[in-house]
Amino acid sequence: MRIAVTGTPGVGKTSACSKLAGMQVYRVYDLVEEFDAVTGYDRKRKTKEVDVAKLAKAVSKMEGDMVLEGHFSHMLKPDLAIVLRCSPKVLEKRLRKKGWDEKKVRENVEAEAVDVVLIETLENVPEVFEIDTTDMKPESVARAIKRIVSGERQKYRVGHVDWSEEVLSWF
Ligand SMILES: Nc1ncnc2c1ncn2[C@@H]1O[C@H](COP(=O)(O)OP(=O)(O)OP(=O)(O)O)[C@@H](O)[C@H]1O
Ligand SMILES: [Mg+2]
Repeated sequence: MRIAVTGTPGVGKTSACSKLAGMQVYRVYDLVEEFDAVTGYDRKRKTKEVDVAKLAKAVSKMEGDMVLEGHFSHMLKPDLAIVLRCSPKVLEKRLRKKGWDEKKVRENVEAEAVDVVLIETLENVPEVFEIDTTDMKPESVARAIKRIVSGERQKYRVGHVDWSEEVLSWF
């Protein structure tokens, strides 16, 4: 089975997946380089532009069970996707700690607040689950990912994460 671990930048995908012992994990950032899928550089957003279709095609030829970890892993035709979530307030702290500039922090906090990655994932992947990582350590997030993979899924159904109350308190 191909599992995508996705979510807004900074939610903790890499941290959680580094604790996934016994599973083959690929970082999407590494695959982009390996399969030569960079098409340019977006100076304004300081990010690489990626040919997602080319990357998806290359990934589809890889064999075996795998976890694809990265913020657009849900675009690489996985069988199942796990969207890591984080309360916007806490995400803001995590992103600032990473040293990101104000604009990039705001852009991502807003995206998390209005479920951008979740919606895109629901549009592209047949089975989708969510983990609220706000009060979890990366080790616990990794355990939750393993539970979902092994079929313990009820707790992680889409819809149990809702930032609307927090967002409304901004006004
Ligand atoms: N569960 C957690 N609790 C507290 N802090 C965390 C947790 N997971 C990650 N962090 C911290 O948040 C920051 C972002 O984590 P990480 O790099 O794993 O996110 P990411 O989702 O992989 O981001 P990107 O999409 O940019 O690769 C790091 O500074 C990390 O130490
Ligand atoms: Mg990462």
